[in-house]
Amino acid sequence: MRLDVVSIFPDYLAPLDLSLIGKARRDGLLDVRVHDLRDFAHDRHRSVDDTPYGGGAGMVMKPQPWAEALAAVAGSGVEGARPRLVVPGPGGAPFTQTMARELAAEPWLAFACGRYEGIDERVYEFAAQDLGLEVSVVSLGDYVLNGGEVAVLAIVEAVARLLPGVIGNAESLVEESHEDGLLEYPVYTKPASWESAPGVTRDVPPVLLSGDHGAIARWRHQQRLERTAARRPDLLHASQAVAGTSDDVLTGFDVATATAADAPELLTLARACWVTEGRDNASFDIPPLVESLDDVVEGLGQWQTWTVRAAGRLVGSVRGRRDPEDPATWQVGRLMVAPDLQGRGLGRALLAHAEAAAPADVTTYWINTGRGSERNQRTYRRAGYRAVPGEGSHPGTVDLTKRRRAASS
Ligand code: ADE
Repeated sequence: MRLDVVSIFPDYLAPLDLSLIGKARRDGLLDVRVHDLRDFAHDRHRSVDDTPYGGGAGMVMKPQPWAEALAAVAGSGVEGARPRLVVPGPGGAPFTQTMARELAAEPWLAFACGRYEGIDERVYEFAAQDLGLEVSVVSLGDYVLNGGEVAVLAIVEAVARLLPGVIGNAESLVEESHEDGLLEYPVYTKPASWESAPGVTRDVPPVLLSGDHGAIARWRHQQRLERTAARRPDLLHASQAVAGTSDDVLTGFDVATATAADAPELLTLARACWVTEGRDNASFDIPPLVESLDDVVEGLGQWQTWTVRAAGRLVGSVRGRRDPEDPATWQVGRLMVAPDLQGRGLGRALLAHAEAAAPADVTTYWINTGRGSERNQRTYRRAGYRAVPGEGSHPGTVDLTKRRRAASS
């Protein structure tokens, strides 16, 4: 793969000579060429920036040096070949593992490192229209760096390590954070019991020493889910769908972890969904019908709650948590589907979604509904729940439970 980098600080790119990327260069897998933008500035001071039209703080990079530099790079390949141009900037599309894979499939990438307030917008047009380049503005994250160089180092490292031969053990590429949308499980090495301070030992989780590969795989997967839920809940719904734990019925809907911003809509949807329960149970004094917005927000802190949206509209929700009094039980609650979308299996799919989020050591699922809510009880029975004899956890309700099936290895 060929990589060209244009910058006013070529020395910034020196780390591309180090480590695996440096070795890939020496092995001929990567052809990296760094160019000084000032070589294309022809005034006495070799200036590359000027004040912005329309006023405002800072300086803008001038079009002429960039146009010359990009034309020189783009014209330096074999006949007809053109690089894909990547311009790092905080206003770009987020750089992700998916984008790294996409860029790794390109034979030639050129990077334009902006500084100051950015590059004159006409350079992007020129690159696309006059040079025929595909131009991608890419951001490392929602923060501002002083220039694109650090971003290029990160992007090149993420891309180059995906090229065949750059990393010795290709398997290690697969078992990594983000490769399948989940964060990586925690790793340990010897000693199994480490004395971190006199008299204080820290042990490797026993399952890793058990030799039971199935149990290890299950533990690692659970760790990945828990880590992702704790650190990156925004990733969880997508990866769970990929892993096949949520039903196909949810395909096309946007399933996400609820945040406080969802509370007003959750309150409203619950009111709409529980009216039937009020009628079926001859009482409208049911928490989802009487609770306040603050109650909903408080619930979001105590339960893991998911929202289901169709074209932005909230059409369903469910929540789950460990029973505070019995950690082996996973409580599922507030299962709701907008009245106009009921009867399509969304409720069942949401129930399965909430069950799939239960930690590995949970043995029982629990749900509660009105004694008069025949339809709900039927749905739960079909999903394998059985009514617990006697009064439910609240007056006029019934509790239903289901044993969790042992995970197969
Ligand atoms: N240049 C300045 N800020 C940046 C960011 N967040 N990502 C990529 N390039 C940048």
